[in-house]
Amino acid sequence: MPSSSRDLLTKTAARAVEYLDRVGDRPVKAATTSADLKKVLGGPLSKAGEPADQVIDRLATAAMTGTVATAGPRYFGFVVGGSVPAAVAADWLVSTWDQNAGIYALSPLVSVVEEIAGDWLKSIAGLRSDASVGFVTGCQMANFTALASARHHVLRNAGWDVEARGLSGAPKVTIITSDESHYTIFMALRLLGFGAETPIRIPTDGQGRMRADALANTLAGITGPCIVCAQAGNVNTGAFDPIAEIADIVDAHSGTWLHVDGAFGLWAAASPSRAHLVKGIDRADSVASDAHKWLNVPYDCGLVFTKHPEAHRSAMSLAAAYIQATAVERDPHEFTPEESRRGRAVPVYAALRSLGSNGLGELIERNCRLATRMADRLSKQNGVRILNDVVLNQVLVRFEADGADADQLTRDVIAGVQQEGTCWLGGTTWHRMAAMRVAVSNWSTTDADIDRSADAIISVWLSRSRR
Ligand SMILES: Cc1ncc(COP(=O)(O)O)c(C=O)c1O
Repeated sequence: MPSSSRDLLTKTAARAVEYLDRVGDRPVKAATTSADLKKVLGGPLSKAGEPADQVIDRLATAAMTGTVATAGPRYFGFVVGGSVPAAVAADWLVSTWDQNAGIYALSPLVSVVEEIAGDWLKSIAGLRSDASVGFVTGCQMANFTALASARHHVLRNAGWDVEARGLSGAPKVTIITSDESHYTIFMALRLLGFGAETPIRIPTDGQGRMRADALANTLAGITGPCIVCAQAGNVNTGAFDPIAEIADIVDAHSGTWLHVDGAFGLWAAASPSRAHLVKGIDRADSVASDAHKWLNVPYDCGLVFTKHPEAHRSAMSLAAAYIQATAVERDPHEFTPEESRRGRAVPVYAALRSLGSNGLGELIERNCRLATRMADRLSKQNGVRILNDVVLNQVLVRFEADGADADQLTRDVIAGVQQEGTCWLGGTTWHRMAAMRVAVSNWSTTDADIDRSADAIISVWLSRSRR
């Protein structure tokens, strides 16, 4: 390697370390505008190019203010995990090796790592050891892949080859979701040709859990191919659909496929005190999840598991003459919509290997305990109401004062906290009420981070409530 390349990579590693050294202390919000970023990063593309170290310097400098500190300990927005050090380092190697993870012949190492990591994941999640696994970009594509497998399976049982013939003229497939299914389920249904507005939506209870009795009533009136979409971890409350009860109901309705979206909730399986929440998930026909959420690997990495490897493979693979399968080795592209892709199982492998199952369980338990700590701290303040039962890592907070519009007040507090910069969290609407949403999903968050963030939220709240 030329010494200029060696220098570039060494200096870049130092810049990356500098970024991570500061990510816990800097304001969590981005401290710049899109106009400023365009000024620093944009302009016409030069004909001659620029020295690589200047290019990297420009990016690394802009990142100090232009990124949100989502990798740091006080980012509580959406459900965004950080990245454990082993996973960041492994991700650097993935870029260095530049392997195409699609087929075994292109990268034996990446294919084998994917198999090993997949086996570890199944064992952590309590899924069957012979389940198929795909490493996709995120839970959106995991839901898509799982539902494509479901579509194949239920239609094949009805004598229809959907991959060859499409949906036009196919037997009707009834899709059942809940009122609280994540929007990516509907996006997946749209991409699969089912339409986003066709599902029967089962009502939910006060925490957003699918009502099993209503599902049973609905299924009783359905004949023909059917897919039920349940959820492990409501994106607002963290609540889990009663998966075991749902599995009983689905089992009694033969030929129905049960899918579970466990984008972040699946990781409860790793934690001794929360594993009961996912009881019955091993009975699902497919499960979708995200490693870039609670396993704390860098973006992007979603996970899809199915109990039906043949359906999974049939839905995803299309042979090409020039791709010569080895017949004995596993070709990862057979389980994902993508053909060429990066070796995103490598950081998963590194995270799992470095944490061990105990370390992962401890990370999940700690984040859940910290979510409860945040809820306890905030709920002690007059006018602050916790809207959900804090069963996992999610806390929904509402701010109320006599004579004030609580929706507006809550939105003001959220905007104030984002602006203040100690931490970052987002807003949502829960049962027609505006709410602040706190998700604790980062391996590096400590009790002190929660206390510091709670103090900042309370101080913004007090300033708004006294206006
Ligand atoms: C329950 C649920 N499903 C699916 C998704 C989509 O995941 P991704 O953004 O990784 O595609 C999310 C994201 O928050 C989620 O919470």
